[in-house]
Amino acid sequence: MGKIDIDMKKYLSQRVLGLEESATFALEKKVDKLDGELKAQGSYVVRFGIGQPDFNTPDNIKNAAKKAIDDNKTKYTASTGIKELKQAVVEKLRRDNNLEYDIENIFVGNGGKQVLDAIMRAFINPQDAVLVPKPYWVSYTQQVILSGGIPLEVDFNEQLKIDITHLKRLIKQYGSKIKLLILNSPCNPTGAVYNLEELKEVASICAGNNIFIVSDEVYEKFIFGDARHISAASLGQDIKKITLTVNAVSKTYAMTGWRIGYVAAHKDIISQMTKIQDQSTSNPCTPAQWAAVEGLDGDQSSVEAMCREYQLRRDYIYGRINSIKGIRCNLPEGAFYVFPDVSCFYKGSIKNSFDFSNALLDKAYVAVVPGAAFGDDRFVRISYAATIDKIKEGMDRIEKFCLEN
Ligand SMILES: Cc1ncc(COP(=O)(O)O)c(C=O)c1O
Repeated sequence: MGKIDIDMKKYLSQRVLGLEESATFALEKKVDKLDGELKAQGSYVVRFGIGQPDFNTPDNIKNAAKKAIDDNKTKYTASTGIKELKQAVVEKLRRDNNLEYDIENIFVGNGGKQVLDAIMRAFINPQDAVLVPKPYWVSYTQQVILSGGIPLEVDFNEQLKIDITHLKRLIKQYGSKIKLLILNSPCNPTGAVYNLEELKEVASICAGNNIFIVSDEVYEKFIFGDARHISAASLGQDIKKITLTVNAVSKTYAMTGWRIGYVAAHKDIISQMTKIQDQSTSNPCTPAQWAAVEGLDGDQSSVEAMCREYQLRRDYIYGRINSIKGIRCNLPEGAFYVFPDVSCFYKGSIKNSFDFSNALLDKAYVAVVPGAAFGDDRFVRISYAATIDKIKEGMDRIEKFCLEN
């Protein structure tokens, strides 16, 4: 047979061809390779890249999954989840978030990421706009694009939270083209937590302009000091109507690989999202759903222990990073990231956050994610979901690298 010469680019979707590769996954690939080489020489990479708890899934949750398998709970379920899990979500939202929902308001999907993707697909017509406040979690803008929409990046203020003046300007400019605003508190990558006044201000702007709020609360349990988590939907009935509360068991219970996320929203939204689920993924993994029931309903002491540990690490890393001359870093009030401004090191061959991260990895063997992937090139994201020994070692290496550059 003759050679078939196909120009794939002519056949593949322009939308997909234009999509960015996930910066965190791309970094992980590079780090895996380097780490393998270094381990053979007795060294290793300090991995501050991926947003993944270093803790193991608690035993009570693992046992619930084992029991589900032994009980042959291994078949298809309703595509948006078993009613026991939806009921556990309803109870959780009542207990933790002061929110009253019925199970018809709950949708369970394959992790928070897939739930968010289903939301975008449910809302976006071609050229519809979605407000994505910077710095943002890497997937938001790309999910909007994948659904045929336009992400509108909103600037941020000194606290790394929404710049209200810019938000209002974008709303004036794009008007009814704007369908959604994505709110992420505690925020990945900054660790910023919105207080009541800030939330009210953003929510009332959305309500006044018929913009739905996608409130991504996956880091809600990791909050430090006097900060507290407030669900946007709890601000009042009007706001609740326009808010989709997204959460997942991934970070809270160190269950990133189990792939269970959920959203609570108006039942008319859920019924449309259900069609998407029916025709795309079907149900999330059945034993994982039973594990999630135990996570939400069971003993919460492991979550409290993880939070205490994250706070100790946050305090340590925040002190170390700010003691490096030239680096500026806000105190994160939640999640497990610090987001320092490292732009004072952009000189010579280091011109941007990608160069900084690459040089840090190549010379000091420390992996951090370039801020450009989150919408601002001055910063890098450091995940402190690592043991305190690793954090100390990583900070020693970063300090030395900065002194030499
Ligand atoms: C802000 C934010 N939202 C959603 C997710 C998705 O979480 P999941 O692992 O449940 O898909 C992540 C994961 O990193 C995240 O950081």
